[in-house]
Amino acid sequence: MFRGTLVRLALWYLLLFALIVACFNLIVYVSLSQALQASVFNDLQNKAKVAIDNNLKVTGNTIDQDPTKLIVGPNYADVCVVIEQFTAGQTGEQVVNGCSLYGVKELPERTSIALARQGIVSKYIEVTTANETFAVRTEPLRNHEHQLVGAVQVAKPISWIGDTLDRLKRLLAIASAVAMVLGALVALLMANKSLGPIRAAFQKQRDFVADASHELRTPLTLIRTNAEAWLRRSDGGSGAVYARNVVDETDQLSAIVRDLTTLALSDARQLRIDRKPVEVSSTLRGLIDQFQPVAEQRGVTIQPDLDGGVTVQADPSRLRQLFLILLDNAVRYSPAGGAVTVGVARHNGRVAVTVVDRGIGISSKDLPHIFERFYRADKARSRESGGSGLGLAIAKWIAEVHKGDIDVRSAPGAGTTVTVTFPVLK
Ligand SMILES: Nc1ncnc2c1ncn2[C@@H]1O[C@H](COP(=O)(O)OP(=O)(O)O)[C@@H](O)[C@H]1O
Ligand SMILES: [Mg+2]
Repeated sequence: MFRGTLVRLALWYLLLFALIVACFNLIVYVSLSQALQASVFNDLQNKAKVAIDNNLKVTGNTIDQDPTKLIVGPNYADVCVVIEQFTAGQTGEQVVNGCSLYGVKELPERTSIALARQGIVSKYIEVTTANETFAVRTEPLRNHEHQLVGAVQVAKPISWIGDTLDRLKRLLAIASAVAMVLGALVALLMANKSLGPIRAAFQKQRDFVADASHELRTPLTLIRTNAEAWLRRSDGGSGAVYARNVVDETDQLSAIVRDLTTLALSDARQLRIDRKPVEVSSTLRGLIDQFQPVAEQRGVTIQPDLDGGVTVQADPSRLRQLFLILLDNAVRYSPAGGAVTVGVARHNGRVAVTVVDRGIGISSKDLPHIFERFYRADKARSRESGGSGLGLAIAKWIAEVHKGDIDVRSAPGAGTTVTVTFPVLK
């Protein structure tokens, strides 16, 4: 019961969980990459400041030529420094090129040096060389008179950030996959738990309907017995019409209550299906013989076309009930003088039982609904002929519990063909 709902609910829980995991991943990834970038940025800023304030001396227009402190000092362990003194030409004169020690030819970074000539700081530029990416900060260098004399570039390798983030991505992907598998289990458990009370309420409701319709049967039988006695006593007198009406209506009500009980019990899973091998053709033949008087009364002939023995695994009484519902409909909705054909055919490991009539047919508007409970296309006519609209609902249930299928083809005025198929017993 509720398997589809359970799966759908579990999927919703899982979707929610996936969204949470995705948000978590995004937050972890973005904050870590921002923190790493910020640490590089601050490091470059500090090292440039230390270089300019403590390790560089500008005398007049010349920069102190002793580069050793800038290259090997403990401050510069994980950065490299380029210092350029401005000259009249564009290129300037290299005072220090610590980065060439790392085999980097692309530094100094010319665009930001050009900006430094105008006194502008370039805070963070990424320069990609053959085997490393650097973050570069460039600051103009001024003498005591605040004249621009050169530029300082501090570069720090940052490929490791990309590597770290890649590793993090892989880790998050694996962790998320594991989380999703666990999440799916938890979602299923949660969905199952939240459906519990609904299931219980539903079952209670079904049990109630089953009990109620069952309880109605005894008083109905009593009413009928009494009405019959009344009918006998009235002996054709004025009361006879009323007594007859009561008997007829009670019969109709009994039929509805019987069908309702069947459906309610099947819903509540209280009906036993006793499967055994059943020969389809002989079952149909027996049924048709039984039903012949009813058909004759309505002026309809039944033409069996039942050669060949096919056996299915089924509850014989339920199978008879199903065929009876189809026969009853075919006869009920045929005009007097009509004919109904019943056939059996075997195809692809399944047996198909077809009931064909040339009766009033079913409009395409009604066709999708005829298996619904209490659905009747022509209510007046159906009721007049004793129908309740529960027959096909029961037929469908019987077909389903036997792994069968019911297919109805119909055209108004032309007739109806109902085909039921079952797996054949080997
Ligand atoms: N062979 C048929 N020909 C025409 N209409 C049919 C046929 N079988 C079923 N129907 C339509 O489907 C409706 C539902 O059928 P069913 O569940 O057996 O209820 P009912 O008790 O009214 O026969 C009927 O009321 C009728 O309108
Ligand atoms: Mg019917």
